[in-house]
Amino acid sequence: MSRFNVWWAACLILLGGLGCNARSQDLAEFDWDADTDEEADEQEGDADSEDGEDGDGESKEEDGESEDEASDGTHHGFVAISDPLSYYEHAKPIIDAKCASCHTEDGIGPMPLTSYDEVEPYVKLVEASVASGRMPPWTAEGPLDNFLGDRRLSFDQRRTLLSWLSQGAPEGDPEDEPEEKIDTTPRRLEDVDLRLELPIDYEPKVEPDDYHCFPIEWPEDETKYVTALDIVPGNRRIVHHAIIYYVRPGSADAVRERDAEEEGPGFECFGSNFGAPSVWLQSYEPGGYAQEVPGDLGFEIEPGSIMMLQLHYNTLTGSGTDRSAMEFKLEDKVDRVGRVSLIMQPAWIAGFMPIPANEPDVVHNYLALPRGADSPPREIFWADLHMHSLGTRGMIGIVRAERPGIVEPLLVIPEWDFAWQETYILREPVILNPLDRLYVECHFDNTADNQVMVDGERLPPRDVNWGDGTTDEMCLGNVLTAPIELGD
Ligand code: HEC
Repeated sequence: MSRFNVWWAACLILLGGLGCNARSQDLAEFDWDADTDEEADEQEGDADSEDGEDGDGESKEEDGESEDEASDGTHHGFVAISDPLSYYEHAKPIIDAKCASCHTEDGIGPMPLTSYDEVEPYVKLVEASVASGRMPPWTAEGPLDNFLGDRRLSFDQRRTLLSWLSQGAPEGDPEDEPEEKIDTTPRRLEDVDLRLELPIDYEPKVEPDDYHCFPIEWPEDETKYVTALDIVPGNRRIVHHAIIYYVRPGSADAVRERDAEEEGPGFECFGSNFGAPSVWLQSYEPGGYAQEVPGDLGFEIEPGSIMMLQLHYNTLTGSGTDRSAMEFKLEDKVDRVGRVSLIMQPAWIAGFMPIPANEPDVVHNYLALPRGADSPPREIFWADLHMHSLGTRGMIGIVRAERPGIVEPLLVIPEWDFAWQETYILREPVILNPLDRLYVECHFDNTADNQVMVDGERLPPRDVNWGDGTTDEMCLGNVLTAPIELGD
């Protein structure tokens, strides 16, 4: 077991106010092999029933099975349905609901899967991708009802689809399609108060993956609160994912300078360090949709700020130009202001996150005390994790003041995939009490087989440290919190 002796942190002013209170810790890393059920039981000694961990326990029965199967790529435990199934009656509604958001004519999926004629040539591939759990793409572990917008198939959906495939994927009669059609168009914001668009039709310059940041001036001249936001991809074939970062007025000049250094609007940017602190507000993944800020919260945005749209284009799935936009719903006042806090070791940035060449499993972890004993309890609404391409798995959790040494998972990503990082919004907020700490853990594989491809060839392993480039690394968690709402 590797232990990471955390450095006494210099008091870096991190965005959410984390960092200054960070304490030196020596915490054994999260036990990845423990059966989640048992672990939940073990941790539930004092059964705090609202904190999401219990949610795990309850719905495990139903969802646990599909999880097991999905992760090891076999059909074990799969009992095929013997009644005759058909495309129209059984398979289409599931494919429409769970695949068509990406697999449409202009979507990011490599082929449309919206009709029998489109699906039929690919049945073998569809079977392999569903049986292995590769499709639909989704990286977070846990029960299906833990996060909003979980793309995975339910146990029944998966069983029905695989049974239909094992029966030879019969077409059946179009008349049998259920009356109620699935609406596959992405949900957009209804009332848009502000729309900020890329200043040009941008054509990706780097193939196949182009990462470009567009800093856009925030036009409001009074403080406003963003209560819902959306990223509207201009060209859904090539926009693989996108993130909105908020840059406060005090840091905006640094970003403007960075922008001016490169010709044309925006600049190449891979990570989340733009020479100035920024706050992650929203992410877009293919098939994604507009979101209200959870918990009826608002993000406070001051005049003179910058909204940065970071786009990851992938040109293997399409070509052309893109003019994506950000849309916002604004209020003058909100009851609760949301705060996005970073979970990271401040010393990492200064070069203290070594990942030596050829090491198969380098672990970096950190425990942060978000605020003092006198602060009121807070609710956590989402958890995010960010690494680059050497990352293999990672997690974010809470270490309760009364149970030091035990990590209560908030977000566990057993197979990190840079291409599918997103904002994991908890269906039920989790409570963070004063003196509870937040934990982040990242694993990296720096051997020859896990290197970035450049021009079709893998780079040789080299010593890696914290940094912003494609071949540097990061280990960064973030959570959205707000003071708990006390019923009065
Ligand atoms: C969130 C978007 C998204 C959803 C939802 C999705 N796919 Fe995909 N699919 C992709 C992308 C992107 C690829 C290209 C390969 C990659 O990036 O992994 C792909 C590739 C595939 C492939 C090609 C072979 C392979 O495994 O790469 C098949 C088959 C497939 N998807 C089937 C499905 C089916 C069946 C569903 C629904 C049960 C589904 N996909 C849902 C985005 C999606």
